[in-house]
Amino acid sequence: MLKITFSSDVLPSQNALVLTVAAKGKLGEQGAKLDKKLGGAISRAMKSAAFTGEKEKTLIILSPAKTRLTRLVLVGIGDPTAADANIFNRVGAAAINALTGKEDKAVLFIDAFKALNLTESEAAAQAGFGARLRSYRFDKYHTKQKPEEKQALKSLTVASKNAAAAKTLYAPLDKIADGVFLTRDLVTEPGNVIYPETLAQHAFALKELGVKVDILDETQMKKLGMNALLGVAQGSLNPPRLVTLQWLGDKSAKNKAPVCFVGKGVTFDSGGISLKPGSGMEDMKYDMSGAAAVIGTLKALAGRKAKANVVGVVGLVENMPSGGAQRPGDVVTSASKQTIEVINTDAEGRLVLADALWYAQDKFKPCCIVDLATLTGAMIIALGHEYAGLFSNDDTLSDQLLKSGKGVEELLWRFPLCEAFDKIVDSKIADMRNSTNSRDAGSITAAQFLQRFIKKGTPWAHLDIAGVSFLMEKGRPLSPKGATAFGVRLLDRFVADNFEEA
Ligand code: BES
Ligand code: MN
Ligand code: ZN
Repeated sequence: MLKITFSSDVLPSQNALVLTVAAKGKLGEQGAKLDKKLGGAISRAMKSAAFTGEKEKTLIILSPAKTRLTRLVLVGIGDPTAADANIFNRVGAAAINALTGKEDKAVLFIDAFKALNLTESEAAAQAGFGARLRSYRFDKYHTKQKPEEKQALKSLTVASKNAAAAKTLYAPLDKIADGVFLTRDLVTEPGNVIYPETLAQHAFALKELGVKVDILDETQMKKLGMNALLGVAQGSLNPPRLVTLQWLGDKSAKNKAPVCFVGKGVTFDSGGISLKPGSGMEDMKYDMSGAAAVIGTLKALAGRKAKANVVGVVGLVENMPSGGAQRPGDVVTSASKQTIEVINTDAEGRLVLADALWYAQDKFKPCCIVDLATLTGAMIIALGHEYAGLFSNDDTLSDQLLKSGKGVEELLWRFPLCEAFDKIVDSKIADMRNSTNSRDAGSITAAQFLQRFIKKGTPWAHLDIAGVSFLMEKGRPLSPKGATAFGVRLLDRFVADNFEEA
């Protein structure tokens, strides 16, 4: 794993150096000095490569003469007056891209710029954060990796004017990265390793950080009448679990209602009797991304000792076909006592959430509730892989989430809910049905289904993260290909912005 450290601004004389450059190829204080020492070699290289210091762009100069550096990487920050935390996250990530597989250790030098939007210490901390997030790897199952395929970079030192200040600012970010990495690990692990019991165990491990974790088994869930969730689980040999995680970091507000996050944790979604096609079915190990994001968020909050009271609830099941599996047409009575006709056993996420959402409200009386779920394929048709869908009964909560999402570049786009859409969910034989015969507005009708399990007066938002949780084609600035842990940084920011006293 990449180790991030901080130092004060002495340019290294060996190994690799990454140096920030502003728009128009403007070197900072130290960069200009180094350029002079090298007889203008940096300026000449920038000119001949038409490198202008555009944000996130890099230029690599191999073993520059008159130094013992193996590699000098210039990384653009663009217009310094526009540079913010996100840009420095990306600068750190760009450094990782330029070094991975090539260098053992490196210094990322945050050079002085007059018009910075944030202090150099903040910039250094955010660059370190971006570097760590981008450095994520999951290669435990490769037994025959070649040395160049292994992650070469072992340590990155972020140098800036005030190392102590940068280090202090980085400390909570490091804890957020721990949460992100946990989520990515859990999501990436295959279905034979992560199933409801083992996922519950990973949640249980957060006890070490002071999170109160309770695990409900099948018998307890039966008593609570969670037949919607249990119906999904009944075809699998792996029994379901429902896990609650409580982080009570604001002791002064003991009686204040907590914020509640609920996650869909289908550890493998075969579709059940409404079996999915074989091609691409392996991706359905990712169908617990919502639950993993909730667990990772709790880890981040507890890790950085957030001054807020937050509860996580995750419904964990495996959706499998078998002689004991639920049939299309079955009617189940949910914990809310509302009945559901199961038209399609592949619309299982909403069945799991129906009981998890109800339980969360009943047990914790939260001030607001946000659920995360890889709920519908239709979400990917609508928004692709850049935005997650936001569905909510509350404008204030929506605006808060949209803002936090923008803040950390985990973007949300709000969709409508209304009575006409709600009607579509009605069933001929029960209170509602879990699927319709039409694909029209598929993500919205799924959200309308969920809303039927939200009590009047509870601000609620549903994030459909089907398109953003795992990326098979290419990664994102702060995430390599695969599990992104979308939601962890967003929810952490949402808590910080709205529930923690400054
Ligand atoms: N987990 C899937 C949704 C999904 C699909 C997530 C692809 C990520 C990538 C969900 O359980 C599902 O199967 N939904 C069905 C609903 C339909 C049967 C009403 C879908 O989207 O096809
Ligand atoms: Mn499904
Ligand atoms: Zn699913």
